[in-house]
Amino acid sequence: MNLIIRPRRLRRTDAIREMVRENHLHPQDFIYPLFIHEKDFQEEISAMPGIYRWDMNGLIKEVSRAWELGIRCIVLFPKIDDSLKTEDGSECFNEAGLIPKAIRILKKEIPEMAIMTDVALDPYSCDGHDGLVDDNGKILNDETIEILKKQAITQARAGADFIGPSDMMDGRVGAIRTALDIEGFSDVGIISYTAKFSSAYYGPFRTALDSAPKENNRKIIPDNKSTYQMDPANSREALIESALDQYEGADILMVKPGVSYLDIVYRLSTFSNKPIAAYNVSGEYSMVKAAAMKNWINEKDIVLETLLSFKRAGAKLILTYHACDASKWLNEK
Ligand code: PBG
Repeated sequence: MNLIIRPRRLRRTDAIREMVRENHLHPQDFIYPLFIHEKDFQEEISAMPGIYRWDMNGLIKEVSRAWELGIRCIVLFPKIDDSLKTEDGSECFNEAGLIPKAIRILKKEIPEMAIMTDVALDPYSCDGHDGLVDDNGKILNDETIEILKKQAITQARAGADFIGPSDMMDGRVGAIRTALDIEGFSDVGIISYTAKFSSAYYGPFRTALDSAPKENNRKIIPDNKSTYQMDPANSREALIESALDQYEGADILMVKPGVSYLDIVYRLSTFSNKPIAAYNVSGEYSMVKAAAMKNWINEKDIVLETLLSFKRAGAKLILTYHACDASKWLNEK
């Protein structure tokens, strides 16, 4: 054939492929999510093989290991004892609570690691919602934000580098930004869960923290989060959320879940000049692990290909439970 253009020329050797490769993964791209609890032992999460609820000593070791592998940021999630859960989730701003305690210890032991937190009421609420639930089952927006502000300030005071509002209340980024600034935390950043969808992919996470919506015999509790998390059918709406978060002072915009929402990652990356993050969530992790344990897929190849797809779609940062494994594989290359 008399072809002038032959794309295969640029795929011929390793060297040429490396020359023209557009995207690369680095351990510094990852934000590693960690679960913690009040117990003095570590406990594997049954639906998330390889992921644990850590005690403080285990946490320090795991975070040191992540640092050594090249990971530069972690995010903490608390499994709160049932006895501490209330309708207003007030344990979330207890200065002596699990998250502030863990941040203080980590900042002492591994001060160079950046720490991100999650702001929402669900791990602390006996109703299992991200916001306050009124007697008719309505999730209250403005009243919830008053509590989230206290939660964010408590985390900042403990030493958090980034606050991560995951609650999807309207106006929370601006309210938290102002509250942080008034308290003197203008250097603390906000990684906003900007386009967070109402997704079945959060299932294993909710079992890990026992944070799913629960029955309350006093009132009606919606069994899903659809009045605040986004409808999976929508994409243009994500641009409204990102315009708002950017205007309200978010430093980094996040999309969640990840794999099924790469179109949203791409849209935000062309729409905004802020760094984009994507959350490769618990359900995505568990599906890969399950198939790998059955030897139906090659775990390493699938994980690295999946994580690379986030970079290709325009994300700089990837929150992923595969962070340590992936970093190890990248360092071996
Ligand atoms: C809490 C929160 C959730 C996740 C992160 N923060 C669960 C939810 O909204 O129900 C999910 C993370 C994952 O599935 O890995 N607001």
